[in-house]
Amino acid sequence: MVSTAEGGTKRAWADGPFELISISSLGYEPGEKIQPYHLMAAEMIIVHNCLIRGINSVYLQCVNVERSPADVPAFVDYAIAWSQILQRHHTTEEKWVFPEIEAIIGEKGAMDVNIQQHHAFERGIDEYTMYLQDTKTGKERYDGAKLKTIIDSFMPVLRRHLQEEIYTLKALDQYEEKADWAKWTKDTAAAVVKASQTAEGMIIELPFMVHNHEAAFEMVGTWPPIPSVVFFILKWVYFRRNSKWWHFAPCDNSGKARDLPYAL
Ligand SMILES: [Fe+2]
Repeated sequence: MVSTAEGGTKRAWADGPFELISISSLGYEPGEKIQPYHLMAAEMIIVHNCLIRGINSVYLQCVNVERSPADVPAFVDYAIAWSQILQRHHTTEEKWVFPEIEAIIGEKGAMDVNIQQHHAFERGIDEYTMYLQDTKTGKERYDGAKLKTIIDSFMPVLRRHLQEEIYTLKALDQYEEKADWAKWTKDTAAAVVKASQTAEGMIIELPFMVHNHEAAFEMVGTWPPIPSVVFFILKWVYFRRNSKWWHFAPCDNSGKARDLPYAL
């Protein structure tokens, strides 16, 4: 994949090598109005694509960043942030979002397939995180090629899961009458964002996701669902804290694509 950044070069960009998820997998054209019972699936596509861009940006830069040893510590922190966020995303689903869906539709275990899939890449994610942590403590030497091999070991399974989860959420169309899905999705998404607004979430999780969200992709627009004035203040107050990390991210804090500094 090549850069979609304005004035972009032929540099690889974060829409590959692991493929983004298209709204067409939910049966819609980009920009088309989403039915209420599919709004959670559409929201999940946005979140999953942030996670995929995140790991793509790590994958594409992990070797070349070694050219500038002074940048490696911030890059390692950026890469660790990704796995923290991924794990929190899955915990939120398992403890909160999936049980709520099962309660609404009255089918316990309906979302179990997703939880089983979470276990399939846990070991790889643990290896990834432990290796990066060990490079921080000096137990291991940073080696981008090694990190790339670890990512290759779990990413195909994780990518498949991120797509297949969308299909299980798509199936909520069978339960159209069971809830006010638009209200439930809006309330749940807002509550999840609010719950992430911890001291660490504001300086790691939120800025990581925002810098990995491309607003122009399939016309999804700005995200996350935070009132614009509040969002402006959050960016001003918290995003500067780890600004060195966001330097490796594929978008600016307005969701505009930009070149990855080490993707050459
Ligand atoms: Fe998910």
